[in-house]
Amino acid sequence: TSSDLRDLLSFTTALARKAGAVILEGSRAIQSASASDIGEKKNSVDLVTEYDVKVEELVKREIKDAYPEFQFIGEESYSAGSRAPLTDAPTFCVDPIDGTTNFVHAFPFACISIGLIDQRRPVLGVIYNPFLDHLYTGVSGQGSFLSRSGGPPERLPLGGPARPLPALSQALVAIEWGSDRKAPAITQKADSFTRLAGDPAGGVAGGRMAHSLRSLGSAALNFAMVAQGGLDMYWEIGCWPWDVCAGIVIAQEAGGFVTGSKDAPHDGNVTEAILTGRKYLVVRGIAGSEGETSLAAQQR
Ligand code: IPD
Repeated sequence: TSSDLRDLLSFTTALARKAGAVILEGSRAIQSASASDIGEKKNSVDLVTEYDVKVEELVKREIKDAYPEFQFIGEESYSAGSRAPLTDAPTFCVDPIDGTTNFVHAFPFACISIGLIDQRRPVLGVIYNPFLDHLYTGVSGQGSFLSRSGGPPERLPLGGPARPLPALSQALVAIEWGSDRKAPAITQKADSFTRLAGDPAGGVAGGRMAHSLRSLGSAALNFAMVAQGGLDMYWEIGCWPWDVCAGIVIAQEAGGFVTGSKDAPHDGNVTEAILTGRKYLVVRGIAGSEGETSLAAQQR
């Protein structure tokens, strides 16, 4: 019920702030080199630190104490081999540090992302960037909000409902390189970015010349920034459920449109497809057939 969701939201928000304090502490330790080695997962750009693990353990433990009957999906638990299938049961879906590369480099865009899935649909999301003290929340049917520096929650998008852009050529678009740097993935990504940014009149075939491209380095924060209204669109290949679960709710509740892999239906509610492991993702905050066509082409 909505009052259950409100209780869950206060629990999740408090938990995210607690986790945020550990992330900040970790960042200080890493910058002063008193922390142990930075680990690599599948390659030298797929990073994990002791703080990813520490924060996930904290969050998992607190969830288990407060909601013992809920299921848990977490990035680090998954990496360690704990891969329970998604069921109809309420399930927390957590990325302890989204933007680990930023975290390691002290680029202040890293966050904890906590989503709650019920009946296989994301219903609640909390994303907290402790470096900027930005707290994003979203609850299904109840809107999404940003609280800055402990201030009052402001409804998203900031400044009122977004005016739809007539064309992709007027958009600010977030993209990410992700951690798959092998051919052909890297070439496909680079080609897509070229088409997004390139000038068709200057000889770039299929160029859309969007206003520009941005990378915040965190999938969750890219979603949050689309919800906020600072980005018109975010497109990435290679996300995982914990990268997007909370962001889906926050973006949708701000009026954003979220879609998943090319196999997913374009009904704005493809979250199950994303959460069950397909890794293509589009979030958009623009309207107009040019945007649609271009994105469809990129996903081919
Ligand atoms: C990654 C970040 C990155 C995105 C990847 C994610 P992590 O998450 O969000 O920006 O490009 O797809 O997996 O590894 O920092 O938790």
